[in-house]
Amino acid sequence: MTHTRRILITSALPYINGVKHLGNLAGSMLPADVYARVMRLKGHEVTYICATDEHGTPAELAAQAAGQTVQQYCDEQYEIQRQAGEGFLLSYDWFGRTSRPANHKLTQHFAQQLEKNGLIESQTSKQVYAVDDGRFLPDRYVEGTCPHCGYEKARGDQCDNCGRLLDPTDLKNPYSAVTGSRNIEVRDTEHLYLQQTGMQDTIRAWVNEKGKAWPSLAVSIANKWLDEGLIARSITRDLSWGVKVTSADGSPRPGFENKVFYVWFDAPIGYISATQEWAEATGNDWEKLWKRDKGADKTEYVQFMGKDNVAFHTVSFPVTLLGSGEPWKTVDKLKAFNWVTWYGGKFSTSSKRGVFMDQALSLLPADYWRWYLIANAPEGSDAAFTWEGFQAAVNSDLANVLGNFVNRITKYCASKFDGKIPESGTPGEAEAWMANELSTRLKAIDEYYEAMEFRKAAAETRALWAAGNEYLTKAEPWVKYKSDVDGAAVGVRAGINLAAIFAIVAQPIIPDAARKVLDALGIPEGNRRWPTWNDENLMDAMPRGAPITPPEVLFQKIEDAQVAEWTERFGGGKE
Ligand code: 2FM
Ligand code: ZN
Repeated sequence: MTHTRRILITSALPYINGVKHLGNLAGSMLPADVYARVMRLKGHEVTYICATDEHGTPAELAAQAAGQTVQQYCDEQYEIQRQAGEGFLLSYDWFGRTSRPANHKLTQHFAQQLEKNGLIESQTSKQVYAVDDGRFLPDRYVEGTCPHCGYEKARGDQCDNCGRLLDPTDLKNPYSAVTGSRNIEVRDTEHLYLQQTGMQDTIRAWVNEKGKAWPSLAVSIANKWLDEGLIARSITRDLSWGVKVTSADGSPRPGFENKVFYVWFDAPIGYISATQEWAEATGNDWEKLWKRDKGADKTEYVQFMGKDNVAFHTVSFPVTLLGSGEPWKTVDKLKAFNWVTWYGGKFSTSSKRGVFMDQALSLLPADYWRWYLIANAPEGSDAAFTWEGFQAAVNSDLANVLGNFVNRITKYCASKFDGKIPESGTPGEAEAWMANELSTRLKAIDEYYEAMEFRKAAAETRALWAAGNEYLTKAEPWVKYKSDVDGAAVGVRAGINLAAIFAIVAQPIIPDAARKVLDALGIPEGNRRWPTWNDENLMDAMPRGAPITPPEVLFQKIEDAQVAEWTERFGGGKE
């Protein structure tokens, strides 16, 4: 028995505004869930935490557009995202919210620690104020004429026409992108700045040490930032929705009554506060996951995220954690993903391109999407979703390779062996061949999961199922039955045992279908643990003579007509 590891898993916290599309799911929550499931099946102590990232201007504006208070809007959207996660069988131990009191308290605590350590300073700068809107405007919500190329709809942070980076005060004839109002002024505003410069060496040393266990993509992003030199970063904003800025005694900080912390300052702290929520609700201990002096030194912390989030997780958040001077746990393994694209382009609600999480589930059960998205995970590069690719993966991998195997062998067992696992016969050459396939492939699957190589793990899982079909072709129980019932019995016994193993290793990716198979085969919950490839007799592990039933059809094939209909509804190859 290998030792039990304590593993903390987080996936990037999805923004509250709007249901996530399949690309968001595939690049953080879904692989994190698959990894969590594998590690639980291996008997490890897993805590998988996620939450909605609720602060920031986009949430405020979306609420305004919906005619709701931000609180109402977030409550509603949280519920929608929670349900979508449940529908996709995401096995969070906790799905929290960054707007909850625990996160406010902890964010204020970190700010105080950082200030105590001389890492926070207040500074006044000039910012665009929209008088009629009654608010300061974040850079990208100011638009106007580009001073370089004359483009009239340049954003305050960048001109989309000439590509130049801009300062919003550079724009000519500026107006509010929120309301269109041209009643714009530049006003002084005071903000807190995190003095990251002072943490440069600490972070560099930390990246050198921890980065050994990260993929090169993550290390190079972190080093790029460090090479450019860390600069002071403002961590407050002129907004009302968010974590209030307080003084050391917890009272509102003078001059900051109408300001809150920047969303990227409080969001990653949400990983910790959501763990606290979980602990509070379930009577668990959060400190052994997050405090190095309270056991977290023995915790493995694994983060999942899209590539755009890497810098925040390898530099900014570590500045907060290490700068606090307290013994917080930092990330050990980090898995970053590229994008899932929609036929090579962007997902977009407004131009009807792409499928969003809630829509997907109205078309087909979660397992179908989970399989396709993991088998095509955007690991080495971006990966394009196409209806044709989706149809091919479902029809071939799930329906033909796995579904047919299970269907064929269980039905045959039911009709010729009275639905009981046959007891007679001795294994021969075909079984020896399959036993070898099993041990090599189970080992490979396990290694790919340990290395968080999800595409390869799925490909190897499929290859194992395919080997099962090849085995049946070699063993030919249906042919043998006519002259050698014992010979047929070996093949059917092995086949039923294989169906169980195939379902057991499929659990992380297609949990629902796997459960159906394991239930039909009468495998008790306690025997659904991850198989050990060097176990002998894997093909004779189930009790001989035990009853089984063929499961209902596992996967429906996707018809061309459905592909045509969905292409029409959600967009396809042509823009
Ligand atoms: O990019 C995003 O979707 C962010 N909401 C991720 C935040 S991750 C964490 F830091 F909270
Ligand atoms: Zn321009």
